[in-house]
Amino acid sequence: MCGIVGYAGYHEAAPFLLAGLQKLEYRGYDSAGIAVFSDKVRTMKSQGRLATLREKVDAVGGIPGTLGIGHTRWATHGAPNDINSHPHTSMSGRITVVHNGIIENYIPLKEELESQGVVFRSETDTEVVAQLFDKLYDGDLVGTLIQVIGRIRGSYALGILCTDYPDTLLAVRKDSPMIIGLGEHENYIASDIPAVLDHTRRYYLLNDNEIAVIKADSVELMDTDRNPIQRDVYTVDYDISAAEKGGYDYFMMKEIKEQPMALRTCIGSRIDNGDIRLDKIRLTEEQIKNIGRIHIVACGSAWHAGIVGKYVIEELTRIPVEVDLASEFRYRRPILSRNDLCITISQSGETADTLAALREAKANDVHVLSIVNAVGSSIARESDDVLYTMAGPEIAVATTKGYSTQLAVLYLLALKFGKIRQTIDQKTAEKLMHAMEILPDQLERLFADEEALKELAKQHAAKDHVFVIGRGIDYGASLESSLKLKEISYVHSEAYAAGELKHGTISLIEEGTLVVAVATQDQLYEKLVSNVKEVKARGAYVVAIVKEDCTDIEGVADQVFYIPKTEDIFTSTLTVVPMQLFAYYTAIERGCDVDKPRNLAKSVTVE
Ligand code: F6R
Repeated sequence: MCGIVGYAGYHEAAPFLLAGLQKLEYRGYDSAGIAVFSDKVRTMKSQGRLATLREKVDAVGGIPGTLGIGHTRWATHGAPNDINSHPHTSMSGRITVVHNGIIENYIPLKEELESQGVVFRSETDTEVVAQLFDKLYDGDLVGTLIQVIGRIRGSYALGILCTDYPDTLLAVRKDSPMIIGLGEHENYIASDIPAVLDHTRRYYLLNDNEIAVIKADSVELMDTDRNPIQRDVYTVDYDISAAEKGGYDYFMMKEIKEQPMALRTCIGSRIDNGDIRLDKIRLTEEQIKNIGRIHIVACGSAWHAGIVGKYVIEELTRIPVEVDLASEFRYRRPILSRNDLCITISQSGETADTLAALREAKANDVHVLSIVNAVGSSIARESDDVLYTMAGPEIAVATTKGYSTQLAVLYLLALKFGKIRQTIDQKTAEKLMHAMEILPDQLERLFADEEALKELAKQHAAKDHVFVIGRGIDYGASLESSLKLKEISYVHSEAYAAGELKHGTISLIEEGTLVVAVATQDQLYEKLVSNVKEVKARGAYVVAIVKEDCTDIEGVADQVFYIPKTEDIFTSTLTVVPMQLFAYYTAIERGCDVDKPRNLAKSVTVE
């Protein structure tokens, strides 16, 4: 989704802004722009890729000035064209703004301003902020900002320049992330850490309704009553190379290959001496014993992880689990009780729907435990408890290591809860912990099939439809495999609970249709083989993903990929990997931009 950068210092701002925006490209965008202030504000914008904006800037020999803001826009209000791109400047030219989020009441505000003679150039909600700021401006920069945020409703991270303050960058946020990077005689704003990492590892996290006044040599934080705020400085603790491609063509492949390491960190640090240590969570053993129901709430792949998690948690703890899409949960008046537990799952920790669902649960006095990757993100901060997935920065829009570490944390939770509630005995727990500990090595072995999967992708890249079928946990994993394929290769794909096929969907199977059958559950294996025979009889080309001792499937499927033997409840961690690789190579074959699929954003901070 949209990205913000800003610079206040003594060096030229434009190169920083363009480089910072490049680091945020992974969030998804369809236009970009920068505004730099010297004697006046000069703005340059461009529809499409950042490279086009860079060419425009280079063509005029750069934009001079040491104060500036930049933005990558993911269109919500108005088409992705040059005019609607940010930054937006008020009619008088005094105020220039970049904005992430949505101003919900922009229409009445726009009408009010238009009735006072303000002429708008764009269709965006953001321009309202620039025009309103200018209209209310009384010479007091912070005072005017406080008035503005008193009038606007919605979500926002704002970076603001005012021509009366040639050394000052203003920032404020509500429900949209913003950090303040702290440099040597220069400071920065950004909507995400990678944008400033080449310059500093030290930053402040801005909270909702906090204002930052940023100059080259100072950063002042204050609340909306102008009370100063003292804030701890955070330090980025991962290697800068973690946010670089490191020799791979795409971040997605790098992140697929990082999964063993990510799982080792996530699991290894939590299994200790025959027990599971769940960081410092506030949820007590007494509360865990009394949990009546678990509500898992998430979006997209995180929701898919939740579906697998439901099977695992119910199996090991016998606690009933409901899994909700966050965008549905918040509007369906969910029935929540005080001894329920809400688990929200989010890689970015900023997904607007998941954040709103979390707030809904908290408003009903339900304890919220979140599984999050981005440290210090909004979801992490607002939850009662957080378990970090420790996957390191995930840049590719399509999640891979984010998903597999979410699964790992769900397994750990299920095991811990099962032990506390005595629904599993110590011997079983130890067997399962051992199985978890060897999962990273087992996952690594799957990379040996990369060439075969690349070949498979070549053979089937032209197909328009792919089905992924499975039962039980394998159905959960099929959902994620299918999403990987459709989001990055634009191949229509459906995941189906294999037993449901004959209730309608099997009519879509015809000669040559590609069906991927995931069959790793001992109890359901025979049934899945029957489903494979059903689609084979209708002409499907079947690729099976099975455990390594199920060689009999070779007589039924056209091609087989084996996963190492593990506990049935943990197979999703492994079955998804061949499909990540297949999706990757299918996207390459079809000439797609793997890391930045069309219309998608990494961090979905709007509803
Ligand atoms: C798909 C993908 C998305 C996210 C979803 C939730 O590859 O990445 O479906 O899983 O947008 O995002 P987070 O986990 O950041 O809340």
